[in-house]
Amino acid sequence: MQIPLDLLREMDSAAREIAFEAGSILMGGFRSQSTTISYKSRTDMVTSMDSESEKFICREIWKRFPGHAIVAEEGSGRETGSDYLWYVDPLDATNNYAHGIPFFCVSIAAMLKSSGKIVCGAVYDPCHDELFHACRGSGAFLNGKAIRVSATSDHGIALFSTGFPYAKDDMEHNNLKELARILPQIQCIRRLGSAALDLCYTACGRIDGYWEPMLKPWDTAAGSLVLTEAGGTVSRYNGDPFDPEFPEIAATNGKLHGYLVGMLCGN
Ligand code: IPD
Ligand code: CA
Ligand code: CA
Repeated sequence: MQIPLDLLREMDSAAREIAFEAGSILMGGFRSQSTTISYKSRTDMVTSMDSESEKFICREIWKRFPGHAIVAEEGSGRETGSDYLWYVDPLDATNNYAHGIPFFCVSIAAMLKSSGKIVCGAVYDPCHDELFHACRGSGAFLNGKAIRVSATSDHGIALFSTGFPYAKDDMEHNNLKELARILPQIQCIRRLGSAALDLCYTACGRIDGYWEPMLKPWDTAAGSLVLTEAGGTVSRYNGDPFDPEFPEIAATNGKLHGYLVGMLCGN
């Protein structure tokens, strides 16, 4: 099934507008005494603003698209049986936010379930007033201007980002093996703290690639579309097609994809 063009356009603008508004809500609670912090586990923080932003986003999506399904990180979503499914991360990089570090975003994407494809996505970084968005087949944009991935093909001068799962003591999945293999060969690594912005930064050529294990679909759904629409490549570690429900992502400007997948597979 195809989405009617008018509906796709409406969903695309909604994702952008709602992400932007939610970003203002987050700014209202940033570095504020009234924002409370709790812990899902020793290393996984959540703030009162995560749920405030999420409730706003779900309410706005359902106001415009009653009946659509939503999967949202803090649990305000609902499965409705609709073919239209929204993935919502109301605050990506909660750790940065809770520590007063001005680098976080809102990430909203919509998928047509029967096609298995993300159809539009928006990622808004309110500290830098940067709105990334993409609609399948129409390119990727930052504040309305088309963006492209970098042209770097030499991994020796490539800047990558990565992230480390909350369970740091799980040696199988804590990303230390991969880091030790890749870091000595490339220019350097960044740990920005937001999977959605890692993907968008790859999309606009600020970094050349990104990988991370143990992610959730709300972390990667919007950013993966922004990146592929900007000319980049996303996959699983072994090069198989990317699936937001599968927890790992290898993401590059395309030219470095063979290199990154080879390294993640231990070759
Ligand atoms: C996290 C961020 C981080 C990544 C974690 C995610 P959250 O999302 O994207 O960069 O390393 O795996 O869970 O919890 O701040 O929404
Ligand atoms: Ca997240
Ligand atoms: Ca989050």
